Amino acid sequence: MRPVAILISGRGSNMSALIEAAAADGFPAEIALVISNRADAPGLANAEANGIKTLVIESKPFGKDRAGFEKLLQAALDEHKIEVICLAGFMRLFTAEFVQHWYGRMLNIHPSLLPSFPGLDPHGQALRAGVKISGATVHFVIPETDAGPIVMQGAVPVAPDDTSETLAARVLGVEHQIYPQALRLLATDGIKIDGDVTTSTAGVDADDSLI
Ligand code: GAR
Repeated sequence: MRPVAILISGRGSNMSALIEAAAADGFPAEIALVISNRADAPGLANAEANGIKTLVIESKPFGKDRAGFEKLLQAALDEHKIEVICLAGFMRLFTAEFVQHWYGRMLNIHPSLLPSFPGLDPHGQALRAGVKISGATVHFVIPETDAGPIVMQGAVPVAPDDTSETLAARVLGVEHQIYPQALRLLATDGIKIDGDVTTSTAGVDADDSLI
C-alpha cells in the first residue's frame, strides 16, 4: 500500500472523498498524512475525525521563500515515507525543483476541463466563455499552474441559468468521483506518463473518464 499525503489549504472536501475511498477494503493506497499550509483550514478537523495524522506547516511566514517552506514540507514527507502527493485545494505554488522531485508522483485536481480555464475563477471563466459542458480534471503536476499530463476528467452540463456557485457545486460532485479513481489508477501503476500525455495501461475506458 503506497503511503499518500494530501495537501490542503481550506475546506478539504476532495480530501474527505479520498479518505473515504481509501478506507474501503482493497483500495491500493493509504492516506498516511494530511498537511495544511494554513492552521485555520476547516479540512483539518475532518481528517483528524477520521483518524488521519495531520500537520500544519504555515507557509505565510515564508513569503516568497518557496524553497524554505518546501524544505520543511519535504522533511515531513520523508519522515512519513510518503510516495504520492495529492493536492486538494492546496493554494500555494511550488518551485520547479520540488515539482521535478515529485514528477509523476504528485496529482492535482482543478475544477475545469483543462487545458481550458486554468488558474483563478475557473467557473466564472467557463460561464463567460459560454461553454455548454464543464467539469474537472486530475493531472500530474508540472511547474506551470493547472497544467500537466491528464489522468482523468469528468464532465457536467452547464445550465443556462448557472451561476459560478451552482456550476461549482455540480463540478464538485464530479471531483469527488474522479479523484479517488485517479489515485487508484496511479497507485496500481495503471497510468504512465508518455511525454506530455498519459497512457492508461489498465482498467479505465472512455466511460470511466466521462461522467
Ligand atoms: C476544488 O474545487 C478544487 O478543484 C479547487 O479548489 C477546490 C478545493 O475544494 N482547486 C483549484 O482550483 C486548483 N487550481 P476542497 O477544499 O473542498 O477540496
